[in-house]
Amino acid sequence: MTGPAEKPVIRTKNLHKAFGENIVLNGVNVEIPEKSICAIIGQSGTGKSVLFKSIIGMMKPDQGQVWFKDTELTALEKKEMTDLRKYFGYSFQNAALFDSMTVGENLAFPLREVLRIKSREEIAGRVAELLDWIELPGIESKRPDELSGGMRKRVGVARALIMRPEVLFFDEPTTGLDPVLSETINDLVIRVNRELRMTCVLITHDIPAAFRIADKIAFLDQGCIIADGTPAEVAASDHQMVKDFIRISFSELKV
Ligand SMILES: Nc1ncnc2c1ncn2[C@@H]1O[C@H](COP(=O)(O)OP(=O)(O)OP(=O)(O)O)[C@@H](O)[C@H]1O
Ligand SMILES: [Mg+2]
Repeated sequence: MTGPAEKPVIRTKNLHKAFGENIVLNGVNVEIPEKSICAIIGQSGTGKSVLFKSIIGMMKPDQGQVWFKDTELTALEKKEMTDLRKYFGYSFQNAALFDSMTVGENLAFPLREVLRIKSREEIAGRVAELLDWIELPGIESKRPDELSGGMRKRVGVARALIMRPEVLFFDEPTTGLDPVLSETINDLVIRVNRELRMTCVLITHDIPAAFRIADKIAFLDQGCIIADGTPAEVAASDHQMVKDFIRISFSELKV
């Protein structure tokens, strides 16, 4: 196994975002190393999803910059940003598949609409290949409501993967799943990273999982990254908030 390259694939510089009086991001500087698994953790409501949406251009920060390699995303026109979005895959928190479509149609959708692939054979081939890869072969004609919660999550990840993005964002992929299913999804994140060589950004409440699978962890609190580094470095942080959060998260495991 090769470790992640040091070069950041995504960088934010001094990101600010407020909603009225509510200051959510207050100068966020974060670097996501290429080909790494990078976890963004922090308390509920602290701005993890806002940070993620600001990075992918779904939300416009009030101030600051986002870089993808050598391109400043925050300086792009809408059209240019739309073109670059294909490098990013995302599975949203609470992401729903389209219930009115089959699994196959759900997966074909980005290929047709974003990549503008016309060939039915190519689309069907890519869908089948990916369903094999997530170990749910042959479920093209099933509808999302016929699947278990864990299967739906995996198909959601597959939909994010199908465009073969460079960076895959997972916003709370395991929330609401039992521990065994959570493990399956965490294993899937590892496989995406190791086998498909994609950078994975994992936004999660599952702190033990973040410490187990991430190469790098960034801890967001009150609008800033208050600890940042390898799991060992973050675990050794002397920031009280980080210490408490980690202690509580791991002690919950023992009950
Ligand atoms: N579109 C919006 N309009 C107004 N306020 C928003 C909007 N999106 C998020 N917020 C506010 O920004 C803050 C951060 O929300 P965010 O969803 O990023 O938290 P989070 O860290 O992802 O929480 P969780 O762990 O529960 O998912 C919250 O106070 C939320 O109410
Ligand atoms: Mg969130």
